[in-house]
Amino acid sequence: MKDKILVTGGTGYIGSHTVVELQNAGYDVVIIDNLSNSNIEVLDGIEAITGKRPVFVQGDCTDINTLRKLLEENPGIKGIINFAASKAVGESVQKPLLYYRNNLNTLVNLLDLMPEFGVKGIVFSSSCTVYGEPDVNPIDETAPIKPATSPYGNTKQISEEIIEDYIASGAPIKSIILRYFNPIGAHPSACIGELPLGVPQNLVPYLTQTAAGIRKELTVFGNDYNTPDGSCIRDYIDVVDLAKAHVIAMKRMLDNNDTDQVEIFNLGTGRGLSVLELIESFERATGVKVPHKIGPRRAGDIEKIWAAPKKANEVLGWVANVPVDETMKNAWAWQCKVSPKK
Ligand code: NAD
Ligand code: UFG
Repeated sequence: MKDKILVTGGTGYIGSHTVVELQNAGYDVVIIDNLSNSNIEVLDGIEAITGKRPVFVQGDCTDINTLRKLLEENPGIKGIINFAASKAVGESVQKPLLYYRNNLNTLVNLLDLMPEFGVKGIVFSSSCTVYGEPDVNPIDETAPIKPATSPYGNTKQISEEIIEDYIASGAPIKSIILRYFNPIGAHPSACIGELPLGVPQNLVPYLTQTAAGIRKELTVFGNDYNTPDGSCIRDYIDVVDLAKAHVIAMKRMLDNNDTDQVEIFNLGTGRGLSVLELIESFERATGVKVPHKIGPRRAGDIEKIWAAPKKANEVLGWVANVPVDETMKNAWAWQCKVSPKK
């Protein structure tokens, strides 16, 4: 019998894929989500893939009484994976308090309750955004943290500090902080995937919606960067590969007594791809053309960043495996499922 894990934000994009991998590995999962950026049908997708429906609590993690009740009614939770957060960079500039309140109160409440309920460890979703524009690529975990360029990015930096300060104060818990690069794609079953509300801000959902005819054309934000083809470079990581890293991190925290109380890992492929290369990958993998044009740079964009994932590879024994063409095929299958092409 494996441990019971609480997944906050578990009906969201990365959360749902992680719940699948946790259940496939035999863990019992309890999800809490307020459905502010996901919907309840995601549970059907998780059940279709794994044959098991996780326990679901609709509730808000900023309310400590809701969390307390959940922990009382679901005794024996050993670990938490905290995905619950608001994540739109632009919106965070417009509504900073929403971001500070949601992202920080959620984390503080969880940390506060962990010792009382005997929860041993928390995996936290951080982001490569904490590095800002890197001085060198690939970038590893020892690189300096740069001043945040948005309230959203700042919540990730502050969250990392909150975890470190709390553990330094003697709190009897462990944490693994995972700095994601750019998660993309969907489960190969096409039962779960990314469901952006409104006009997508991120590249891959905009690209697949354009290919599906929902958007007229994709704008490539700038081709005058100091990169081989002039468009920005990112480290695009398949969401299932990313999800699997959480299961490994959880097992390490709960089953190893001799690991550090706080550990930080980059989760990326180690390979940078430009916007134009990603479009080419999609077209190659699916045979579907993506109408696109070159537009001006997007304010605040980083020119190039990709991960040195050596620490995760060696310490966690985790490697990103899914080839990017495969990821694009899965993203397309998911898009076709949610909005069949006319
Ligand atoms: P998502 O919006 O799909 O999932 C987050 C989930 O949390 C949603 O289902 C939402 O309804 C829920 N939620 C938000 N606030 C809540 C609250 N107060 N109480 C309960 N539920 C709440 O986002 P995602 O892409 O799956 O991201 C998951 C985590 O990973 C976030 O912390 C995000 O900041 C981080 N992250 C994401 C990316 C990315 O590119 N997707 C990159 C780096 C880090
Ligand atoms: N891009 C376009 N056209 C679009 C959308 C994006 O050219 O319509 C370009 C961007 O300029 C960028 C690249 O595609 O060069 C990737 O952009 P995304 O918006 O998909 O991702 P970002 O790297 O800007 O940011 C994402 C999340 C952040 C997170 C960061 C690192 O939005 O929250 O990855 O994890 F912090």
